Amino acid sequence: MATSKLFGAAEESNSPSESPPPYRRFGATLYCGDFLQVSAEWPSPTVIIVDGPYGVGSFPGDPVSHEALAEWYRPHVARWAERSLPETTLWFWNTEIGWASVHPVLVEHGWEYRSCHIWDKGVGHIAGNSNSKTLRRFPVVTEVCAQYVRKVKVGTNGSAMSVKEWVRSEWERSGLPLYQANAACGVKNAATRKYLTKCHLWYFPPPEAFESLARYANEHGNSQGRPYYSLDGTRPATAQEWARMRAKFHCDVGITNVWREPAVRGEERIKDAHKSVHMNQKPLRLLEQVIVATTDPGDVVWEPFGGLCSVAIAAANRGRECHSAEILPEYFAAARDRLACHATP
Ligand SMILES: C[S@@+](CC[C@H](N)C(=O)[O-])C[C@H]1O[C@@H](n2cnc3c(N)ncnc32)[C@H](O)[C@@H]1O
Repeated sequence: MATSKLFGAAEESNSPSESPPPYRRFGATLYCGDFLQVSAEWPSPTVIIVDGPYGVGSFPGDPVSHEALAEWYRPHVARWAERSLPETTLWFWNTEIGWASVHPVLVEHGWEYRSCHIWDKGVGHIAGNSNSKTLRRFPVVTEVCAQYVRKVKVGTNGSAMSVKEWVRSEWERSGLPLYQANAACGVKNAATRKYLTKCHLWYFPPPEAFESLARYANEHGNSQGRPYYSLDGTRPATAQEWARMRAKFHCDVGITNVWREPAVRGEERIKDAHKSVHMNQKPLRLLEQVIVATTDPGDVVWEPFGGLCSVAIAAANRGRECHSAEILPEYFAAARDRLACHATP
């Protein structure tokens, strides 16, 4: 089984026999160990929230340069791809150069870029900490969080094609003229224009429209080619099955791709004798925002690199099931205590 490249103390202190057992509360399960080893039995995710190495040497195991990141992440990216569904969204947190370095590996494994979000921590993040006389660049107060979805391929008999190509190809296979898609959907001309076009103005047919196209093609199309619009080769797909062929996205009004939020402080910051336990703790507000945007209650969230398992807390607050891995026993213990003390969501 593949394992991550480990560095320093983590390698020695993390033999399976020493690992504490998984900890469960509020639908969240925390595992102590390498994500690649502990995730084999996790249910497939609706969303994966990745906040792993940044290539800045900020925790044991974080490479000291972004140049090492692409190869570090490769086995992880492959595993996320292998275990994901057509509806899975991936959020990838990093520095801008760290993300740029890993992007080609994500694309290679079928992750399709959707958008890049800037976490702006504000000038307060560097207040009193930067000497403009010696700096050779402007102080950095941002991280990025890039959104990816699956590049979905459909088709039986080994003829995998994009969803867009398949919707048109099934209609063509039925022998019906393109304009008849409008009658199928009960509209004047929108169905042919939106769902069967080859151009960039194509729309993913909403589940009801898909069901109408499928019903019409199967009732009126050439009887020899049936079933049309089938995902399993035996019957037309249902509206519900079709809805799961793309990533979920609930777009709240007023949210843009710039997220202004100070670094975690106050009550939310986990401390040990006044010292932050983990330098990379993410704000719950931002994590809840991405969870709510790309899942529904009850869906499965993955947190491959837990730290203090902020994603698990955010998922619990929003009624989602979460599976988190943290490789370092010290951080795992802190995350477990955090979840154990968390007030009922
Ligand atoms: C950037 S931090 C995550 C911080 C977290 N988002 C939070 O809010 O606390 C990344 C964490 O991933 C852990 N890690 C690194 N490699 C890992 C692996 N292969 N499996 C599981 N955890 C890993 C590190 O020990 C570190 O605590």
